[in-house]
Amino acid sequence: MNKELLRIEGLKTYFDTWAGIVKAVDGVDIEVIEGETLGLVGESGSGKSVTALSIMRIVPSPGKIIEGKIIYKEENLLEKSEKALREIRGKEIAYIFQDPSTSLNPVLTIADQLLEVILAHQEISKKEALEKAIELLKLVEIPDPDVKIWNYPHQLSGGMKQRIAIARAIASQPNLLLADEPTTNLDVTIQAQILELMQNLRKRLGMAMILITHDMGVVADIADRITVLYAGRVCESADTKTIFYKAKHPYTQALLTAVPSLALRTDKLKVIPGNIPNLIEPPSGCRFHPRCEYAIEKCTEKIPELIEIEPGHKVACFRALEINLESPLGGAKNN
Ligand SMILES: Nc1ncnc2c1ncn2[C@@H]1O[C@H](COP(=O)(O)OP(=O)(O)O)[C@@H](O)[C@H]1O
Ligand code: SF4
Ligand SMILES: [Mg+2]
Repeated sequence: MNKELLRIEGLKTYFDTWAGIVKAVDGVDIEVIEGETLGLVGESGSGKSVTALSIMRIVPSPGKIIEGKIIYKEENLLEKSEKALREIRGKEIAYIFQDPSTSLNPVLTIADQLLEVILAHQEISKKEALEKAIELLKLVEIPDPDVKIWNYPHQLSGGMKQRIAIARAIASQPNLLLADEPTTNLDVTIQAQILELMQNLRKRLGMAMILITHDMGVVADIADRITVLYAGRVCESADTKTIFYKAKHPYTQALLTAVPSLALRTDKLKVIPGNIPNLIEPPSGCRFHPRCEYAIEKCTEKIPELIEIEPGHKVACFRALEINLESPLGGAKNN
């Protein structure tokens, strides 16, 4: 129980651009327990995708992992050879992108795309691989899998394409699935179906999942724990109930009041004032200070460390224990 699968420590991933060094991920710590769903949440530009790409070591140029550790099953992925990592990518850790078209090849049939992954990881005949591919389509609940398998991606709807991308990702029974905004481009009903499917598959296959989203509403019902990112750093991390009802970081609080799907439940929709900072010259001290209504002088001078304030609940805010945030969802008062 509660065995750690992945631990990211002090990860820094920077982009050396003509305009300056973009500190996209700047000292991030994240833990994933075997078999759990971790929600990785933050506004657009907070470093969620770059964190996920760093785990797979597929950060696009000019991005570079500068510092830190990515411990997967007790081994540091950042110290592994490219060859060793190829064994892990896809097989142990798989990735689903926001836009399924990115992971599907438009000129290949669904059969070809699935066979490609199945045969890369298993020594079986083409006929057996095709049977497995049809099984996978059943697993992701594609109707008429024997027919659909001969389709090309453009013949399928967005939701169906995302199901195929999921089938491809789980073909090798990974231990960890990184799902980067997998439902952001889909309509709300399809979104709910895909999330439910992913959750069922996760349980059935016993894998862990990092579900990346900018929308707290998406992770509300599905994540076991949530880690909140702001401007390349972790603000808060705790189990989902604690995040929703007993958040201690002003930014987590702001995110909760800014989510339309949650605000509908509470009538308290608020926009977070200001913009996500420029990551070439981020604000001094706490990066959230220019937007934080609780900021004091110290916040502009020093960077708050991520501190465990109670078992499993970590917060990076100097004032976490003195300000008394009330959950926008009501319920348990915060202290
Ligand atoms: N190829 C790139 N070149 C320069 N900056 C990049 C590149 N990719 C991402 N970034 C920067 O890194 C930061 C984090 O991006 P990202 O991880 O994509 O955010 P999120 O997924 O949370 O929306 C952003 O400021 C973004 O502009
Ligand atoms: S450290 Fe200061 S600026 Fe940052 S979130 Fe806490 S109170 Fe706000
Ligand atoms: Mg992203």
